[in-house]
Amino acid sequence: MAGRIPQDFINDLIDRSDIVEIVSSRIQLKKAGREYKACCPFHGEKTPSFTVSPDKGFYHCFGCGAHGTAVGFLMEHDQLEFVEAVEELASLNGVDVPRETSASAGPVSPTAPLYELLDKAAKLFRDQLRDNPAAVDYLKKRGLDGETAARFLIGYAPAGWDFLLKRFGADDAGRDRLLKTGLVLRNEDGKVYDRFRERIMFPIRDSRGRMVGFGGRVLGQGEPKYLNSPETPVFHKGRELYGLYEARKINRKLDNLIVVEGYMDVVALACHDINNAVATLGTATTPEHLQRLFRATNEIIFCFDGDRAGRDAAWRALQVTLPELREGRQVRFLFLPDGQDPDSLVRDQGAAEFRRQLDNSMPLSEYLLDHLKAATDLSSMDGQARLAELARPLVNRIPEGIYRELLLDRLAQEVGLAPRRLGQLLEDPDAGETPQAGIGTMPDRAAGRSRPGHLRQAIKLVLHKPSAATGLALPEGLTTLRKPGITLLLALLETAAAKPDIKAARLADTLRDHPDGGQHLETLLMQDIPLGDASDWAAQLRATLEAIMHEEREQRINDLTSKANAGLSDAEKRELQALLSGQHST
Ligand code: CTP
Ligand code: MN
Repeated sequence: MAGRIPQDFINDLIDRSDIVEIVSSRIQLKKAGREYKACCPFHGEKTPSFTVSPDKGFYHCFGCGAHGTAVGFLMEHDQLEFVEAVEELASLNGVDVPRETSASAGPVSPTAPLYELLDKAAKLFRDQLRDNPAAVDYLKKRGLDGETAARFLIGYAPAGWDFLLKRFGADDAGRDRLLKTGLVLRNEDGKVYDRFRERIMFPIRDSRGRMVGFGGRVLGQGEPKYLNSPETPVFHKGRELYGLYEARKINRKLDNLIVVEGYMDVVALACHDINNAVATLGTATTPEHLQRLFRATNEIIFCFDGDRAGRDAAWRALQVTLPELREGRQVRFLFLPDGQDPDSLVRDQGAAEFRRQLDNSMPLSEYLLDHLKAATDLSSMDGQARLAELARPLVNRIPEGIYRELLLDRLAQEVGLAPRRLGQLLEDPDAGETPQAGIGTMPDRAAGRSRPGHLRQAIKLVLHKPSAATGLALPEGLTTLRKPGITLLLALLETAAAKPDIKAARLADTLRDHPDGGQHLETLLMQDIPLGDASDWAAQLRATLEAIMHEEREQRINDLTSKANAGLSDAEKRELQALLSGQHST
């Protein structure tokens, strides 16, 4: 395994990298004096508070506080690991990344031997194909050609309990490594045996080509049809995509990636020279999958099986995709006829037909609108309100920006409402009663998480009635929330609590330059606050702050539950349990 990258090299690399060039090749920068400005790529905003300083060699966002060097930017923006970012930067500078020799290297990575062992196992399985005509027959019957089999390193795990054990498990250390890779299991009596037997083996490589796990299919009938490696220190199902490494190896600049359900779908498409399909590993699509996919391409086409499960998977995929949508990214859905999967379709009808269907696949916006329309009767006012109700949580997951605006316009068109009116319905269920609602400039609209209404309402309340903040106990967790607008709210609360008699205009003025949206205070100042129970502003403020926290928790529960399929860490499980038991809900 490679040794550590010397720190001096990293420092030099950062010093001589042109951060402006790196950033501007990814987002559009505008020169402003000695620095450059842009709308921050890490949080939604309309006025640029993201600055890049070539002299200082770093970027900083006054809005969300993101900052760092060229390496940090690559990690954040391209979603790279530290080492990957260093490698990327080095290749931009045309230099190789040196590694410390073993003498000076730190402790050897504990996972290195696992990758090595998995790699050896894959090659052994592949070689087994030759001696197992039944396996070769099966693959031939399914239309697999030798070249594709070799490219995917497809193999066969022979019968018997100790094919791998015999070769790699002679001593305790070897057995221990095998157990850690999940290639062998230990039963209740302490007996150790091979996990994969009499199965076609699909090796799974991570995005860097390291072997991390396997899927194994029975020959013909049998249960379970597929057996997968368990989660291990090197294999995380919610993160890996089968076929991504292979696709990128053939073509680094992928126009699009097709997301399918199964190993065989990926491989069958590859046999038909469609080399850009990837599969999730028997799990739902996760946010991590999405981030990986969008690192490799700007267009994703989901193509799940034409059955009930496939359609459900598509709708779930849409929901996970929403937070990742932005200008320049495209997401489409190809719905196959019931009973078909990509493997059967390409085999029955050929690559040309499959490509034609890909070209005609449905844009995400259309799918979303169709889905919503199918659930509502738009001829009635009730129907329009209900559609807004259904659309709200979805639209609010999309980051603020052109994509969201366009989608809202289309949605408005579809339902026959003025975009502004729809915006009101979407923002606030009570919008109908308060014509002032619906300013489009508040920073909290960018949050893309909880509904914008409450945060804006809280800010307005403090601004108009500073005395409401006197002696207020903030709900637990509010001060550590990370969402645009929250630090502005906290600053308002603090200032108001210190000077209960302060006039609203003075308060707005004091915080006008606050980086978290202070410039919007003036607009809010000019608006009335909706008349609730005006007798007790403090109680109303408290309730609004609670509502913010409540929504954050709901959102977090949603996030964790949708991630639960892919596996939660222990900490996440505890968090979810606590959330569900309402422990934080007071
Ligand atoms: N899967 C799994 N365990 C199972 C069944 C399925 O992990 N018991 C996962 C596998 O990753 C599989 C995918 O779900 O590739 C799709 O399953 P399915 O549609 O049932 O299988 P196909 O891919 O159509 O398999 P085949 O064509 O080989 O029958
Ligand atoms: Mn199939």
